[in-house]
Amino acid sequence: MTLEAESTAPLTRDFGVPRHVAIIMDGNGRWAERQGLPRLAGHRAGTENIRRVLKESHDAGIEYLTLYAFSTENWGRPDDEVSGIIEILGSVIGEEVVALHKQNVRIRHLGVLGRLPADLAKAIVQAVEVTKGNTGLNLCIAFDYGGRAEIVDAVRRLIAAGTAPDEIDEAAISASLYLADVPEPDLIIRTAGEQRISNFLIWQAAYSEYYSTDICWPDFDATEVQRAIDEYGQRQRRFGRLPTEGAQAPEVS
Ligand code: FPP
Repeated sequence: MTLEAESTAPLTRDFGVPRHVAIIMDGNGRWAERQGLPRLAGHRAGTENIRRVLKESHDAGIEYLTLYAFSTENWGRPDDEVSGIIEILGSVIGEEVVALHKQNVRIRHLGVLGRLPADLAKAIVQAVEVTKGNTGLNLCIAFDYGGRAEIVDAVRRLIAAGTAPDEIDEAAISASLYLADVPEPDLIIRTAGEQRISNFLIWQAAYSEYYSTDICWPDFDATEVQRAIDEYGQRQRRFGRLPTEGAQAPEVS
């Protein structure tokens, strides 16, 4: 995949609205605990919050919104929390796909489907299929997703296709990722104060801008989305170059 060239204008320009925003939706558990509620109530509130962040993202002109909903490492959480999150996703898909389809939202999935309950995996495949012709916002759900596993899967796919070692370059790996046609994230947001990437889009995030806030995910509202976009607009993206060389993303070789 070729990195998206945003502009050849000087670096001092306002980069405006990010085309692709990816979010690590952290802090559901802490949000719930602070209110004396069970952790799953936090995940439910976090799921509700997706609706308003989606709306604000659409209104702001964001084209791709990627949400880290369940990581490969999250399987290590207590069984009742894992099954609760899986149940929430299952019911949300059942309830929301028709509405999202009407809103011209294209649903994408990144991650592995094989470990999920068969009915959930089927519902995800159907949601992707039903909305695949939509031309509005791309809502990419990372569910049972891990960045390292994604890179391993990409390399395995290349080898299985008979790719010669010297043909396995950055462009080939980029083209073999789960959602190879999706541009790399311009902005990665993490809620609830932690300052780490947690195996999220680690290949694609090489030159993403990073934004962290103490606000827990269920409280990350439209104002907070706008705050993050505004801060992104103040950033200078250099893609490893000097300011005088222009702000264009490099071609992946
Ligand atoms: C992080 O909070 C959140 C998760 C691990 C799960 C997020 C899941 C959802 C919002 C629901 C299902 C997804 C969709 C797309 C409907 P945490 O539990 O790590 O919070 P803590 O750090 O405060 O404990």
